[in-house]
Amino acid sequence: MRPVETGQPDTLYERAEHAARFIRSRVPAAEDARVALVLGSGLGAFADALEDAHPLAYAEIPGFARPTVEGHAGRLVLGKVEGVGVAAMQGRFHFYEGYTLEEVTFPVRALGLLGAGSLVLTNAAGGLNNSFEQGALVVISDHLNLLGANPLLGTNDPRFGPRFPDMSEVYDREYQDIAINEAHALGVELRRGIYAALAGPSYETPAEIRMLRLLGADAVGMSTVPEAIVARHMGIRVLGISCITNMAAGVSDKPINHEEVIETGERVHETFAELLRRVIPKLS
Ligand code: HPA
Repeated sequence: MRPVETGQPDTLYERAEHAARFIRSRVPAAEDARVALVLGSGLGAFADALEDAHPLAYAEIPGFARPTVEGHAGRLVLGKVEGVGVAAMQGRFHFYEGYTLEEVTFPVRALGLLGAGSLVLTNAAGGLNNSFEQGALVVISDHLNLLGANPLLGTNDPRFGPRFPDMSEVYDREYQDIAINEAHALGVELRRGIYAALAGPSYETPAEIRMLRLLGADAVGMSTVPEAIVARHMGIRVLGISCITNMAAGVSDKPINHEEVIETGERVHETFAELLRRVIPKLS
């Protein structure tokens, strides 16, 4: 029996190419998107202020899943920042929502094939380092992948990258310096920190936070690491910035709730947006 002809591309690479072609067909200017951007909880409004903005709902884009969490709009906005073409994701897909890491990272694959050579990953995170306060911005210098999975598990497609990609500098050092210098020029302190990714969706226990401290983590969250790994696999340069929306469990005696995470993100949003506006044109 002949297999049913669905007209759907079958390998991940072809599906990502198909998504990139679809985006280009809907928004021809997407061709110029040099910088891809993932906007985390409470930080999505940045995309509303892009020049020449063209939004596309994730639901329209072949291969994209749909986020389920409040505070994540679920659209890709193509536009410009200071004349530089960007593709900004308002909301991301999380492992805790039940998506596979392939689904979580599919947009990065698609935006990489669209032509983005730089990826800016932003997130809300809990602060472990006592020198961070609520609302602090942290540039990610390295990560701990504690998700219990890796987005590159399975067959490797060498068109994306090597089987065993190097991860000795996931977060581009030059990009870190650019972000720190631009923050300084804005009068904002931006510290470096190590981001630990856990699957979630429950927040950590105080004992888990003590463990993460021993492991060297400064911030903890439930995202970013899969996208960063996939980007490096494709040779895309990565900048990661966390907004410390709350102190991690047991660091302060307050319970953690999602509303507070969103509120803090929204409170620092203006500063965050200004920093992104200054940094993006400098990413080459
Ligand atoms: N833990 C994990 N993820 C988070 C947190 C936290 O405290 N805050 C925002 N995202």
